[in-house]
Amino acid sequence: MQKQKFTFEYLRYDNREEISLKYREILDRAEESLNFSYAPYSNFRVGTAVGLENGAILIGSNQENAAYPMCLCAERSALALAAHLHPQSAPIMMAVVGAKKDCLIAPCGSCRQAIWETEQRYGRKIELLVQAPQGGILIFESVGNLLPFGFSGSDLK
Ligand code: THU
Repeated sequence: MQKQKFTFEYLRYDNREEISLKYREILDRAEESLNFSYAPYSNFRVGTAVGLENGAILIGSNQENAAYPMCLCAERSALALAAHLHPQSAPIMMAVVGAKKDCLIAPCGSCRQAIWETEQRYGRKIELLVQAPQGGILIFESVGNLLPFGFSGSDLK
């Protein structure tokens, strides 16, 4: 028997002024997308922006439904939009923010799986920027770090 360890590094910025310009634009677009969130049941608005290899930035937000299991998360709405408008261009960056600023907005398990699928599909890691409490931002180099031992299409072969 061997004891194994899984560790990873990530960046933590305590305020947005410290963050480089390449990240600021995508964060601003994610903030803008909060305006399109439809969250009358949870009142928890989430906004996302996805940056593509070709420079395009697509946005998404959570879209809820009275039948709760049908609620669509912001992350998956943005990935679907990107896949339709720019199917040839790999997503390389994604920002996730919330209207409620005092909490971490880490993607839920289903979204981690969906972002992971997108990484596998295009063969590119997606840098993930997530809102941390009180104006902070965490940056992960790949969703794979948040989904250890992730299941993927290659497991089906
Ligand atoms: N939500 C997201 O859109 N993304 C996340 O990463 C976490 C949760 C949404 C789903 C639901 O509309 C609301 O937040 C409360 O769970």
